Amino acid sequence: MENIASYIKEHKSRFIDELIDLLKIPSVSADSAYSQDVWNTAKAIEVKLQEAGCDLVEICETPGYPVVYAEKIIDPELPTVLVYGHYDVQPPDPVSLWTSDPFEPIIKKTELHPEGAIFARGACDDKGQMYMHVKAVEFMIKNNCLPCNVKFMIEGEEEVGSANLGWFVERNHDKLKNDVILISDTGMIANDTPSITTGLRGLSYVEVEVTGPNRDLHSGLYGGAVANPINILTKMIASLHDENNHITIPGFYDKVEELSIEERAAMAEAPFSLDAYKNALNIKDVYGEKGYSTNERNSIRPTLDVNGIWGGYIGEGAKTVIASKAHAKISMRLVPDQDWKEITTLFKKHFESLAPEAVTVKVTPHHGGQAYVTPIESIGYQAASKAYEKTFSKTPIPQRSGGSIPIVALFEKELESKTILMGFGLDSDAIHSPNEHFGIWNYLKGIETIPYFYKYFTELSK
Ligand code: BES
Ligand code: MN
Ligand code: MN
Repeated sequence: MENIASYIKEHKSRFIDELIDLLKIPSVSADSAYSQDVWNTAKAIEVKLQEAGCDLVEICETPGYPVVYAEKIIDPELPTVLVYGHYDVQPPDPVSLWTSDPFEPIIKKTELHPEGAIFARGACDDKGQMYMHVKAVEFMIKNNCLPCNVKFMIEGEEEVGSANLGWFVERNHDKLKNDVILISDTGMIANDTPSITTGLRGLSYVEVEVTGPNRDLHSGLYGGAVANPINILTKMIASLHDENNHITIPGFYDKVEELSIEERAAMAEAPFSLDAYKNALNIKDVYGEKGYSTNERNSIRPTLDVNGIWGGYIGEGAKTVIASKAHAKISMRLVPDQDWKEITTLFKKHFESLAPEAVTVKVTPHHGGQAYVTPIESIGYQAASKAYEKTFSKTPIPQRSGGSIPIVALFEKELESKTILMGFGLDSDAIHSPNEHFGIWNYLKGIETIPYFYKYFTELSK
């Protein structure tokens, strides 16, 4: 393992070039116009896994985009690490806010990435982080130091809710059998403050539609006499939070896991500067649920947010109109032990009850998933912690994240193994935003750290 640093030095420019090639393929899973590109990305990864030295590499078809599966089994008696990642990316929109083409990667220096960062959609989420694993395994195979078995499962529908991954996992229990699942699709606190993600929030994502009159109306002739769906929708949405920013849906908090005072005190020890946080976002103040800190609000507490809202006239100039319909997309981030299906039902019931007789309301659930917490006592966590200690010379801080990777809870249920989330991105890397980027230092540090996870996990498994 010790020659990983020199291997990286020798192959650094190839590692960067290969990632850039992958980033050039616009694998946007949400938009069917990119369907061929999503497939092409799967095929490109297939080739890369073969070149890395895997024995079996397959493109496994599903009812949606395929899963790329690969394995290198050196001895069935040894432990098996299953690497999960995704090759699909978020839409690049709004493209006009990018300073360079989202699918023409360029390297630029930033304040937090003085050694340069690759700017492209998917650079951090998740092509860059997924590809660190391919390169780490390449190193271990080529240098004859892979200490255990490895399997890869790289999917193409994570950004649209992993609709078919459950289907694939259910049908492939034997193939996917493993001792630990390893994922790099989260972040860490800072380059000099490594952390390991120990929790993910769950999610319920719904779309709502409020319908008033059967057609758009003149707002002078009818205004004041019929319900305006946009007025009603915004009123309904506003009522979903009270003055303390608690969510008002009856039963919403019933199952929320309450952390002990000790657990909250431990969380508060992680380094965090509220001023730096506000400065980075250009806001005068933070905003959220009364009684909780910013880090608690964005990790251990559930939320409800409008992700998009539309209706009526939004073209140039003014048009006097009462729209027939108004729409919104709403996400609820959930925490242990809220059940996403139950919460979706509670939302639907409550939201429908808010509507006056003058309109009709339709609630359409999109997708969801359960929250996840991983214990820090597991050998998987211990191995990851030792790996960071080795390459960062610091003990990583366990930290719960606010994001969601819904499939993780399903893996635990179906495959009965724990997931370890070794993320190397930063919150400021702008995932899902314009100008997404991934630090070259972070990319290479990930490649350097991952092989030690294999080493320590194998040793601790004995
Ligand atoms: N990689 C992210 C999730 C993430 C990012 C978790 C940073 C923790 C830290 C993933 O690709 C993602 O975007 N997930 C979606 C959910 C999905 C169902 C669309 C999310 O969290 O919004
Ligand atoms: Mn991701
Ligand atoms: Mn994402």
